[in-house]
Amino acid sequence: MANEHEKEAVARASLSFIQDGQVVGIGTGSTAACFIQLLGERVKNGLRIRGVPTSDRSREQAASLGIAITTLDECPEIDVTVDGADEVDPQLRLIKGGGGALLREKIVASASKQVVIIADSTKRVPMLGKFGLPVEVIKFARAVVQKKIEALGARVSLRHDGNKPYRTDEDNYILDCHFGEIADPERLARQLSDMPGIVEHGLFIGMASVVLVAEGNEVVELRRRR
Ligand code: 5RP
Repeated sequence: MANEHEKEAVARASLSFIQDGQVVGIGTGSTAACFIQLLGERVKNGLRIRGVPTSDRSREQAASLGIAITTLDECPEIDVTVDGADEVDPQLRLIKGGGGALLREKIVASASKQVVIIADSTKRVPMLGKFGLPVEVIKFARAVVQKKIEALGARVSLRHDGNKPYRTDEDNYILDCHFGEIADPERLARQLSDMPGIVEHGLFIGMASVVLVAEGNEVVELRRRR
């Protein structure tokens, strides 16, 4: 399957996890955009759900398709979230944040009873870390945090949007941190969470309930062992 077909296939498969009346977390990125498109079609055909988007751009897309939008203030408990990922390892640990929405994505995932990750075949890796780990940092702390992450052995670059630093929906910066293979993601997650100035990092550990990944012409369903 070509990449775009794979994204559509996994997005379509994720619809079976959504039921009438649910509150649905809506992810961000190109695979999530396929999901939003398909969800919009279901809504046009009568599905009644309310969506909590993980970014301004997903909210705009969802609203434009007639999907009812709600907030975490109104609905702090989400039934199911569907989102993409940049990397998925065999333990269903993820790197996310390539699309810059990791902070809201992690908050929405943490509020969800079920998190369904949709991924094309390129996202499945034996070890996390080839994809630069996105770390969201407040502007004031950028240089200090960058130095500390470099001291952990990463090559770090400030994400740009044209010639300006990229700004997240919460108006923070993103540092893309190239560690190479991450031998101990749990340890790295703790080290990053302990650094003042880091708002959130893109390691999602123990959050994915199900990963739907394209493999050949099929969609494979992977579940986390408890
Ligand atoms: C956005 C994300 C995306 O889910 C991730 O970057 C995958 O995006 P795509 O589906 O475009 O490959 O984490 O912050």
